[in-house]
Amino acid sequence: MKKILNIVSSPRGGASYTIQLADAIIAKIKAEYPGSTVKTVDLAHHHYPHLEEAHISSYFTPAEKHSAKEREVIRHSDEAIKEVQEADILVIGAPMWNFSIPSALKAWIDHIVRKGVTFNYSEKGPVGMLKGKKVYVAISSGGIYSDGPMKQMDHIEPYLRTILGFIGLTDLTVFRVEGLSIPGVQDTALEKAIAGIQLN
Ligand SMILES: Cc1cc2nc3c(=O)[nH]c(=O)nc-3n(C[C@H](O)[C@H](O)[C@H](O)COP(=O)(O)O)c2cc1C
Repeated sequence: MKKILNIVSSPRGGASYTIQLADAIIAKIKAEYPGSTVKTVDLAHHHYPHLEEAHISSYFTPAEKHSAKEREVIRHSDEAIKEVQEADILVIGAPMWNFSIPSALKAWIDHIVRKGVTFNYSEKGPVGMLKGKKVYVAISSGGIYSDGPMKQMDHIEPYLRTILGFIGLTDLTVFRVEGLSIPGVQDTALEKAIAGIQLN
């Protein structure tokens, strides 16, 4: 039995390929671990705010010295981090938007990367504080980025591996539904992506 945190960042509901691919990943996890629970966080419809001055100062000020404003705004980060800490497995849907992730997903990341809470610095450099969690990422894109000439334009997978690894989420597997704008590829892309899901 696993606690799954399902991070949605496409606003396209049932038409979304990342949502459909993530749902297929979750179905496989549930089949492997009967009784698993799923908490879905829909970032597209419930935005985390862009970081403002009070968010940043709240991160670097001890709680007992927080102003009323800092106390009010740090709850966004506290809530997002608690959800990640409580999960055994994260499933993150990441549609490619302009070669990167949607800003709603970036805003969530800005709330979960927090010094002293999800990462710290040691004499040997940065240390991620989240441990023992599995992450599956469902990426969708109009073009093909897993291989070939456009691979270097993919700013999703390298970025997510870097930033999630930085906070300790180093066990990351990526599944892609891609070529969705390419005639002859789009019709079977989702089916193929779902058939290729292998948990590890
Ligand atoms: C705002 C926007 C920007 C996009 N930018 C890219 C892009 O840079 N490269 C690409 O291959 N596809 C791009 N696409 C296509 C999406 O990646 C594709 O439609 C994907 O399926 C969207 O994910 P979803 O189905 O989960 O919503 C873009 C789509 C939108 C709406």
